[in-house]
Amino acid sequence: MKLTFLGHSAFQLEVAGKSILIDPFLTGNPQAGVSAETINADYIVITHGHGDHVGDAVEIARRTNAMVISNHEISLWLRKQGVARTHDMHLGGSHRFDFGTLKLTLAFHGSILPDGSCGGNPAGLLFKTAEGNLYHAGDTALFSDMSLIGEEGLKVAILPIGDNYTMGPEDAVRAVSLLKPAIVIPCHFNTFPVIEQDAEAWAQQVRSTTSAQPVILAPGEALEV
Ligand code: NI
Ligand code: MN
Repeated sequence: MKLTFLGHSAFQLEVAGKSILIDPFLTGNPQAGVSAETINADYIVITHGHGDHVGDAVEIARRTNAMVISNHEISLWLRKQGVARTHDMHLGGSHRFDFGTLKLTLAFHGSILPDGSCGGNPAGLLFKTAEGNLYHAGDTALFSDMSLIGEEGLKVAILPIGDNYTMGPEDAVRAVSLLKPAIVIPCHFNTFPVIEQDAEAWAQQVRSTTSAQPVILAPGEALEV
């Protein structure tokens, strides 16, 4: 699987020959480095309704005819915005797609949509694929049931470290201890002044207190695992 960081919480996951965009906030994201007008997608997955996660999902879905996967409330909203292909799920539910299985996991956060519509409950994402399991935490606080997600056996975990709106660096290190991934990638930091963090100092803490390998991706950088 190939994972490309698009800045903030946005990633492109390429697995089983499919392009899956996660939280494609590109327009207005100072780190994005790619344009919503040109990126390709077979699927778009949205963790929660906030504008820095829904991002350009509507425009990209209209242009590419990608299927958008989200919770039920966000799915209803997407259809009202003219998105033709949606797949709605909810917390704890898994579904098998042609790239592998996706489960919506808990996240402790909010989910109101950009126009004030109800975005349901926020989620994390657990991808189980033939090329390994990947967890994107979405925006969340630390919670001890992350250890249940860790029991699935994670090749990669993507965790917010920005603080203020989500876990900060210290709680993200504790999350690594619960999740036990082989590789951990930080996100949701340095996009705006209020979430500026020293990712290298965080990575040192991960190395000294867990067995995970921290990988800090610069926006636009990709990792093949
Ligand atoms: Ni959020
Ligand atoms: Mn956010």
